Amino acid sequence: MNIFFGEAALSQVSMMTNNYDKFFVLTDENIYGIYSSMIASMLPEKEITKIVVPCGEQSKSIENVMLIWNKLFVSNAGRDSLLINLGGGTISDLGGFAASTYKRGIDFVNVPTTLLAMIDASIGGKNGINYKNYKNQIGLFSEPKSIIINTQFLKTLNERDIKSGVAEMMKYAFVADSSFIDLDLDNYMEYIEKAAMTKDEIVSLDMRESGLRKILNFGHTIGHALESYYVDKENYLTHGEAVALGIYSSLYLSVKYCGLDENWLFFYEMWFKGNLDLLNLDDFDVDKIMKYISHDKKSKGGKPRFVLVAKPEKPVVDVEVMPSDIKDSILILKNKFSK
Ligand SMILES: NC(=O)c1ccc[n+]([C@@H]2O[C@H](COP(=O)([O-])OP(=O)(O)OC[C@H]3O[C@@H](n4cnc5c(N)ncnc54)[C@H](O)[C@@H]3O)[C@@H](O)[C@H]2O)c1
Repeated sequence: MNIFFGEAALSQVSMMTNNYDKFFVLTDENIYGIYSSMIASMLPEKEITKIVVPCGEQSKSIENVMLIWNKLFVSNAGRDSLLINLGGGTISDLGGFAASTYKRGIDFVNVPTTLLAMIDASIGGKNGINYKNYKNQIGLFSEPKSIIINTQFLKTLNERDIKSGVAEMMKYAFVADSSFIDLDLDNYMEYIEKAAMTKDEIVSLDMRESGLRKILNFGHTIGHALESYYVDKENYLTHGEAVALGIYSSLYLSVKYCGLDENWLFFYEMWFKGNLDLLNLDDFDVDKIMKYISHDKKSKGGKPRFVLVAKPEKPVVDVEVMPSDIKDSILILKNKFSK
């Protein structure tokens, strides 16, 4: 698996074409609306079958997997075929899963178009869909042939999704590389390549998340629960917003369970308020949010395990936390970060 950066990176797609006869591009309606002519000119000599799904988290569904399988099937796709996932994390998760399960797996490449996908979701070969609003319950590990990162796509990305990506990037400051502490809304472009390489390095040491890779779940146990809880509501949270809240809860628990200096909690609260928006947390039902946590993939014997930190760059994995403390760490979010 290779990661290519820069404006010329897209030419990598055409360089790969000699290896394939059939080409499919999976994207969502927003991206198709903006980039349809770019898609048409991507492979000038070849015919490309377009597969366009609705935007947003709810597109990570078995119905859309079936739609993709069907498009592949009617075109008689096989080992000679390449699926190009052009989009954010929703598209790479969905497309990677559909490609890896169709006929026991056809090749795919990820061309991330959101900040969050460039620095995280498109890298590492975790693919999957949601089940009954629970996040990523069905999925597998399977790496793309290549990842092609061209930050020009960010010119059309809205501010909310830029902030979402910046929030996800901040997790690296606590679990992997404390130089991300200086990350903010004005300088995030400088951190993209470093963030992508940080993720790639961690994944290359532990593809199947049996050890080191677990640190990337920092903020995600509570983040995923919040994202799931709000997914079908008008005041839905983006993945990055939910993770930003989850990071605060994890730091709160880290003070109690791992001796993290409380100043980091204050630092992060200020960072959040200086770079991200306060969120609409109406209809905040902590018991229902707790129910989503019980299905977290890291749970053992029904008990959730948390990634916490003793200090930046010193993550502690598999920490068992008392349910009453988890509840407290969620309840505090409503006071601190709601509009
Ligand atoms: N597999 C992994 O390792 C991993 C890691 C992190 C997150 N994820 C998953 O990623 C998903 C979130 O990804 P996301 O934040 O990229 O969301 P997304 O893919 O839903 O994209 C967000 C929005 O941006 C729009 N968009 C995308 N690119 C655009 C562009 N260049 N210009 C204009 N609009 C554009 C999309 O249409 C969508 O409305 C979640 O489902 C999360 O679980 C996966």
